[in-house]
Amino acid sequence: MHDPAVFRTMHKDRFHAEPEIFVGPGRVNLIGEHTDYAEGFVMPAAINFATLAGISPRTDGKIVIYSENFREEKSFEAAALPAKGTKEWTDYPMGVVSILTGEGHKFPGFSLSIWSDVPPSSGLSSSAALEVSTALAVLSLVGASYPGPKLARLCQRAENEFVGANCGIMDQFISVNGKANHALLLDCRDLSFKLAPIPDHIALVIANTMVKHSVAGGDYPTRRRESEAACAIIASHRPGVPFLRDATLEDLAKCGKEMEPKSYLRAKHVISENLRTVAACEALAKGDMKELGRLMNEAHWSYSRDFEGSCVEADTMVELAQDLPGLIGARLTGGGFGGCTINLVEQTEAKKFAEELGKRYAAKTGIKPEIHVCRASDGAHKL
Ligand code: GLA
Repeated sequence: MHDPAVFRTMHKDRFHAEPEIFVGPGRVNLIGEHTDYAEGFVMPAAINFATLAGISPRTDGKIVIYSENFREEKSFEAAALPAKGTKEWTDYPMGVVSILTGEGHKFPGFSLSIWSDVPPSSGLSSSAALEVSTALAVLSLVGASYPGPKLARLCQRAENEFVGANCGIMDQFISVNGKANHALLLDCRDLSFKLAPIPDHIALVIANTMVKHSVAGGDYPTRRRESEAACAIIASHRPGVPFLRDATLEDLAKCGKEMEPKSYLRAKHVISENLRTVAACEALAKGDMKELGRLMNEAHWSYSRDFEGSCVEADTMVELAQDLPGLIGARLTGGGFGGCTINLVEQTEAKKFAEELGKRYAAKTGIKPEIHVCRASDGAHKL
């Protein structure tokens, strides 16, 4: 992580004021992909890649945001906030300010510095990390706070309504509510959750295929629409199915003939993924790593073949991992179509695993990947 002391000095030098600093982590999803907007289950963990947001008040009525990553400063009038995003990096922090303003907060001018080491467009929720760290920062200015689940919802709304990306609740929720050394099983219907300790002997190895993806891009909303179309057909037979969370594999078998083939496959993934996610949490709680790994591998191929949410590079990364000592389970994590795989690996083998996977992936694809041995970290907080 960026040295907070260096970050503080950077803010002070630029804005001539002492900042308060907040951190919002990225996340890795162990299992449960494209189930959140179907009101199903997900099991992510917050990770030690994060965004820092430093804030200090201003007296000139301006909101000035500086990104150390983009080396760019942008200025807005606090009294005349934009109504919608403009496809710039500032949409994420300004979306948060806009949604919180809609909740009745009146923000005076402020200076906000941003720095992040969450790789963008890599399936590790750089957007949520930025939203959540910004939310804590601006709320601190007006002395306000929210319970974790509510704060996550507000940040999700910033992304849905201001940025214009139709994401579910998973990323913002785990960035707010994550706990060190734990995965979190979230019921995306009522936002109740259970923490499951990740045993010390397990490492989270995150392997970046270097293929970029974006939730705002076309594939994510297309997949979402296809799976929702399948749900509508099931609901026309059995009205108690407003979301795929409520559907069973029997429903799918009965109604499948009426569905577009693609919709059928998307629903097959989502319905089976919900079952796998709950089972994976039980396996983790029991320490049954063999079963957890089996479920992760199955989840990958369901994501790849039925949901068609993977890519050649991610499939290759998962396949190569299978041959390496120490692997418990591997799968593509996050929104799909590129980004990172998550590998649960025996701690003692993790370093060698990461090196070898990197070498084999580069040899096979010609792409140099970034591979990190990570740990599950705490959710957003003040530094
Ligand atoms: C992205 C979205 C999440 C979720 C995942 C897929 O990360 O932001 O809400 O839908 O994709 O599981």
